[in-house]
Amino acid sequence: MDEQVRVAVIPGDGIGTEVMEPTLGILEAVGRRHGIDFAWQHHDWSCEHYTRTGRMMPEDGLEQLAEADQILLGAVGYPGVPDHVSLWGLLIPIRRAFKQYINLRPVRLLPGIECPLRLKEGTEIDFLVVRENNEGEYSEVGGRMYRGTPDEFAVQESVFTRRGVERAARYALDLAASRRGSLASATKSNGIIHTMPFWDEVVHETAKDYPGVEVRDYHIDALSAQFVLDPGRFDVVVASNLFGDILTDLGAAIIGSIGIAPSGNLNPEGEHPSMFEPVHGSAPDIAGQGIANPLGQIWAASMMLDHMGHPQAAAELVSAMEATLTGGVRTPDLGGTASTTEVAEAVLQQVGSDD
Ligand SMILES: NC(=O)c1ccc[n+]([C@@H]2O[C@H](COP(=O)([O-])OP(=O)(O)OC[C@H]3O[C@@H](n4cnc5c(N)ncnc54)[C@H](O)[C@@H]3O)[C@@H](O)[C@H]2O)c1
Repeated sequence: MDEQVRVAVIPGDGIGTEVMEPTLGILEAVGRRHGIDFAWQHHDWSCEHYTRTGRMMPEDGLEQLAEADQILLGAVGYPGVPDHVSLWGLLIPIRRAFKQYINLRPVRLLPGIECPLRLKEGTEIDFLVVRENNEGEYSEVGGRMYRGTPDEFAVQESVFTRRGVERAARYALDLAASRRGSLASATKSNGIIHTMPFWDEVVHETAKDYPGVEVRDYHIDALSAQFVLDPGRFDVVVASNLFGDILTDLGAAIIGSIGIAPSGNLNPEGEHPSMFEPVHGSAPDIAGQGIANPLGQIWAASMMLDHMGHPQAAAELVSAMEATLTGGVRTPDLGGTASTTEVAEAVLQQVGSDD
């Protein structure tokens, strides 16, 4: 009998809806080959929902999601709705309620894509960024006073806990131990004198359990430069919530387009649903034109298959993406002329090509 998997689907806004639809069809095709029967639970939660109801998701939204095994998200964001409303009204509550404390973002240059960097001969870009996903700089502690007066001020506190840093570090160290044994830790302990030295201490204390992994601290500014100058040196990178967020947009840029990059918000213990989404946003500048690259969403779906315990199905999906790219079917962000639908159709064909 097929394995039943309940997936909550939140396409969101703009190109989120355009890349989600074909991805579900591709997942169904992969599922048929691997005995997975997807039951989609569709939710129209979005900025459009917010303008209609005053909420990004219904009051019992998290309870509804708790019934799903996994969550697949497109992107949210719409001009006119402040970005902090869409983030704090949907994504952040989901990441926190379901203890999705790891945000895993692969940075890999896929075959068939021209790297925007001039790489040294033989350089491969293939690393993972582990972003702490539940605390750090994304905190609600703080406030604003004396609004609209010359004395106005804003205070925003970062929150770093031993448990939060240690579990992110341990996840990253486990990954490094299973790969090339190298971990880069993003810090800024020269300028940020409380939280960042604490981050460094906890990372290094945790690393004592991993004698085979070499850990190197990089200040975030120098690390950003190395992403551009020498990306081949990285195996696994661990970073706080904000640093990881910024680094992974840069990571997406060096692998050709933000339209390809995937992201998994993971509850590693599997006690709660995890959430998979592309790194990109709702791209209002190209929404409605049918030219959004669907590969970030499809790659995110592959990460979901992997997390569900189907590494073979996940690998087949990535191979289908690679074959599509080397076959020259590409959206304009990658210098091609194909539409979202044409790229998705090509991936779908590849998925079934060895039947
Ligand atoms: N996780 C999320 O839902 C998420 C993430 C980032 C931004 N946002 C929101 O999205 C909105 C737009 O934000 P932004 O412009 O800073 O970032 P964005 O990622 O939406 O777009 C940045 C640039 O990349 C291009 N791009 C992005 N995805 C693409 C794709 N799949 N194919 C081709 N080109 C693509 C866009 O056209 C744009 O030029 C904002 O409201 C923002 O808050 C949401």
